[in-house]
Parts: sequence; structure tokens; C-alpha cells
Amino acid sequence: MNKPVTKLKVLGIAGSPRRDSNTDHLLQQVMAGASSLGAETKIVILSELNIAPCRHCDGCIKTGKCVVDDDMQWLHIDLREADRIVLASPIFFMSVTAQTKAMIDRCQALWVIKYVLKLPVAINPGKERKGIFVSVGGTKLRNLFEPAMATVKSWFTTLDISYSGELVFSGIDERKTIRLHPTALKDAFATGQKLTAINTRQ
Ligand SMILES: Cc1cc2nc3c(=O)[nH]c(=O)nc-3n(C[C@H](O)[C@H](O)[C@H](O)COP(=O)(O)O)c2cc1C
Repeated sequence: MNKPVTKLKVLGIAGSPRRDSNTDHLLQQVMAGASSLGAETKIVILSELNIAPCRHCDGCIKTGKCVVDDDMQWLHIDLREADRIVLASPIFFMSVTAQTKAMIDRCQALWVIKYVLKLPVAINPGKERKGIFVSVGGTKLRNLFEPAMATVKSWFTTLDISYSGELVFSGIDERKTIRLHPTALKDAFATGQKLTAINTRQ
């Protein structure tokens, strides 16, 4: 008998503090692309969650469990279960938003699991996990996305996620401007399909 097909779990993280934003629209299209190929998708909106900044209290250092009791407790599980992660954050002062950075820093507990306890971070170790970065910035500065990409790559490494590229657009400032871009939303849909198509889990 054939083994049942387990749906690929794709977790989308919306990091903009404003709703109906440029990165929201891109993220929704990436997730629609993933869903069109049968993936199970979930979007979390960081600005609607209660996620305190990391205190560096070292409360996680022996257990790998964060002692701060807020929404990061269940988000840690989602992050460890996901087969694909799509992190969407606009550029704020050359980095990701404060909401996004707080979530990333709170993954210090997962850093402890990986580097101190030397245990697998992924709930299903052995399965390849992939992630991409989706972003926009208001300016057209050269290398606008490089600092944020460095942060995201470091975070993905901690999560045992292989960095599978970015979908970024500069010169996008007013809310919803991305919808006027000639290809951005189609590009986002295709990116979601590409992220899902490879290595579908059996
Ligand atoms: C606090 C703040 C800081 C920003 N810093 C930058 C920046 O460093 N570089 C840039 O190109 N745009 C910057 N922007 C513009 C945003 O990246 C831009 O408006 C973007 O479209 C917001 O994305 P969203 O619609 O997904 O929220 C900044 C905006 C805010 C509110």
C-alpha cells in the first residue's frame, strides 16, 4: 500500500506593523502559490501577537525552553514543525521591523536547543526545511536588503532552514503600491509554487 501523502506545511510570517500592506500582499500571493500545489498554509501576523523582546535572562540555557510566557510559546512549535518558512518584513532603518526582530531574538531558545543541547530543532529532523525572505523598501538604495538578509540568514541557520532566496522590491513606499507593480504579485505566486514544488513530502 502507498504511504499517505503528508501535506507540506508552509508557515508565513507577516512582519509589517500595518495591515493590508505591501509585504502583506506579497506574502498572501506566495502562500496562494504554495496552496495551489496542495501545501497546508498558515499565516501569523506578528503585530497582532504578544511577543516581548528577548531579555537575555539565560532562562532557556539548560532546557531550551523560553521562560517568557507569551505567544512565542506556540510560535516556537510552529517554527519547529514547518517545512517551509516565508518571512515577510519591510525594511525599517535598513533592517527588519521591530516586530520581526523581537520574534527572531526570541528564537534564542532554539539556538540553545541546537548549539548548547545539540538536539534537533526541527520536529521532523532529516526532512529538508527551506525558507525565503520577502521584503520591500521605500528607497532605491543600492544593497538596501543586504543587512536584513544577513539577519534572516542567521536566523534560518539557527532553525536548520536552508536559505532559498529572496523576493524583494525597492522603491515601494505607500501602502498597496506593490499592487501597481507590473509583475510583483505574479512573481510572488510563482515563488510560492517554486518553494513548494521541490521535495514534496511523502
Ligand atoms: C520606521 C520606518 C523606517 C523605515 N526605514 C526605511 C529604510 O531604512 N529604507 C527604506 O528604503 N525604506 C524605509 N521605510 C519605508 C518602508 O520600507 C516602506 O514604506 C514599505 O513600503 C513598508 O512596507 P509595508 O507596506 O509592507 O508595511 C521605513 C518606514 C518606516 C515606517
